[in-house]
Amino acid sequence: MRVLVLSGGRSAEREISRLSAKWVSGELEAAGHSVTDVIIEQDGSWVPAGSSRKLSFETGPVPWKLFSGEDTIPFDVVFPVLHGSYGEDGTVQGLCATAGWPCAGVPVMGSSVAMEKHTLKKLAAQASIPVVPWVFLDENRSTSLESLEEEIASLGFPLFVKPSRLGSSVGIGKADTAEELKEAIQTAKKYDYMILIEKAVDSPREIEVSVIGNGFQIFSSVPGEVLPGRDWYDYTAKYQCDDSKLDIPAGLSASQTEDIRMMAESAFRLLGGRGFARVDFLMNSEGIWLNEINTIPGFTTISMFPKLWAASGMNSEKLLNFILDEAVSRVEHGLCQE
Ligand SMILES: Nc1ncnc2c1ncn2[C@@H]1O[C@H](COP(=O)(O)OP(=O)(O)O)[C@@H](O)[C@H]1O
Ligand SMILES: [Mg+2]
Repeated sequence: MRVLVLSGGRSAEREISRLSAKWVSGELEAAGHSVTDVIIEQDGSWVPAGSSRKLSFETGPVPWKLFSGEDTIPFDVVFPVLHGSYGEDGTVQGLCATAGWPCAGVPVMGSSVAMEKHTLKKLAAQASIPVVPWVFLDENRSTSLESLEEEIASLGFPLFVKPSRLGSSVGIGKADTAEELKEAIQTAKKYDYMILIEKAVDSPREIEVSVIGNGFQIFSSVPGEVLPGRDWYDYTAKYQCDDSKLDIPAGLSASQTEDIRMMAESAFRLLGGRGFARVDFLMNSEGIWLNEINTIPGFTTISMFPKLWAASGMNSEKLLNFILDEAVSRVEHGLCQE
């Protein structure tokens, strides 16, 4: 297939997205697909990698095309490899749906729900999937820190403070005191006015499961474990520190493995059960909690998502073909807006 790989984007995770796209493009080409590598710049313009010429596009019936001056770039499917806002959050998926283009990955609603940690937690809790207790601070909707004092006190320190819609641990802080809580909120606020204040799980194990689905069937990988090599899995541990390790498959009993995979599949079903995602859990001797779902997880050479599939007997060619075929069949069946 002719695949339009989108990367970069307008979020703070732009650089990681470029690394992920490099891996995806390489594997797509190795699987016999042809790739056009398009970068979304911070101002929202689309530019082919290695060029400075902005693209324009034509919407409507096949064949789908982009234009670069006189040149046309035809494509069969879009593969967004964009992390965070304006990419992983349903916006690009919506653009593709409106234009009539097949788009790989979780469709619009599931993408937006997964991107917003607060909404995802509410839905998960309603579906009896355990989540860590939290308080939601949204000063734009007239909740103030003072008005949440009692609720926060009932969570108890230490607390995690997170922008509701971001990833890669950007803007996240751990607070041991009221003073640190205020500082962490100020940091998180730089990225989002919607903020989660969450109870810290004591000595958590971080277990992750990869899932794919076509709306009828959902498949889950073996679980893997992240060993951050630092107090918690912050940006440095994720991308700048060699001490972080992945343990695949995670050292879990057969019944723990089964439970976590079932929870991952149920969580993915909340998003519509189409496309792909990495479902992340926190776990200790007291329980297992859904932490978040990444609908466009990291795809770099060191990333958990493809490694978990490889360990589950699905190589990257099979994985990417499943993802592309699902996107195309969704449009053929008139389901692209789902
Ligand atoms: N409630 C919590 N208790 C303990 N550690 C947490 C908690 N929430 C997040 N963390 C730590 O912070 C990291 C990043 O948080 P996460 O919610 O996964 O955000 P992101 O979307 O940026 O990856 C996690 O991988 C984990 O190490
Ligand atoms: Mg995470």
